[in-house]
Amino acid sequence: MQLNTQQHTILIAGCGDVGSTLGQLLTTQGKEVIGLRRNINQLPQGIQGISADLSQFDDLKAKLQGIHCDIVVYAASAPSFTPEAYQQTYVDGLKNIINSLDSPPKHLFFTSSSGVYHQNDHGWVDEQSPCLPSAFSGQIMLEAEQTALSTEYPATAVRFTGIYGPNRNHLLNRVSRGDVAPESPTQFTNRIHRDDCAGVLAHLITKALNDEPLETIYLATDDTPATMYDVTHWMAQQLSIKVISESASRRAGSKRCSNQRLKESGYSFKYPSYKEGYSALLDPDR
Ligand SMILES: NC(=O)c1ccc[n+]([C@@H]2O[C@H](COP(=O)([O-])OP(=O)(O)OC[C@H]3O[C@@H](n4cnc5c(N)ncnc54)[C@H](OP(=O)(O)O)[C@@H]3O)[C@@H](O)[C@H]2O)c1
Repeated sequence: MQLNTQQHTILIAGCGDVGSTLGQLLTTQGKEVIGLRRNINQLPQGIQGISADLSQFDDLKAKLQGIHCDIVVYAASAPSFTPEAYQQTYVDGLKNIINSLDSPPKHLFFTSSSGVYHQNDHGWVDEQSPCLPSAFSGQIMLEAEQTALSTEYPATAVRFTGIYGPNRNHLLNRVSRGDVAPESPTQFTNRIHRDDCAGVLAHLITKALNDEPLETIYLATDDTPATMYDVTHWMAQQLSIKVISESASRRAGSKRCSNQRLKESGYSFKYPSYKEGYSALLDPDR
């Protein structure tokens, strides 16, 4: 692979929806972007593909040989909701990438999840809140964060809340069928548009490349935690849908995630609430 050594090179390992959006953003900023995943046919133009499986250490090491990356972003996601898939994708794959790098990057970013929090009392959480998840998913995500943060070079875990965006219309589809959330029990939901996930990562990468100080953890969520009741009823109104059923979410957690640290770092959200974000999805020309 021919890389321009004058430019900063960013490796995105697990270059899917968020990774590809980030990669496109970074290429417009003049950076070299390498997207690593098994199926590289789906990578957008401008991102140089490496086809590799994060679970195959020897192959990964061979494919990354001789490539120096200034920044590594680990954004793979587990193919299924099982302890085995989580361990293999978030912990083992991350270790494999770390051990495959020929030279240390300036900074490693790991895309984590607000699933590391156990709180369920509708209260606010931030980066300093305790994390005592009872679910395997949160426990393994925390282990992966620790793996990233214990490398010999600087690292940051970015905890995303519920990602929505183009082709991620699960909630809109549900409301389109006339199904909304009940008012009781209260359930707060925290969301972030896919483009803001990429925007946040690009913002933090710029800081790292400029040697500006970074925290080890950022909670990345929009300005507006809202109840599922409010979100789904607002959607029904936008879609002019008649409500025919109510069902509570299977996931019981209810907390409000704070983005104060991220905003104090200078990031401004393109979509500060679900209303701006879903309005753009419903009417892309707006
Ligand atoms: N969904 C949410 O609401 C949410 C919330 C919080 C955090 N997150 C986290 O946000 C991050 C980005 O999510 P996303 O939506 O961009 O995920 P995505 O679209 O599913 O992309 C993940 C990519 O990882 C690649 N991948 C998975 N296993 C791999 C392996 N063994 N080897 C190589 N590549 C592998 C997949 O490509 P191939 O199949 O081609 O290999 C896929 O393109 C993930 O870490 C996710 O856990 C998501």
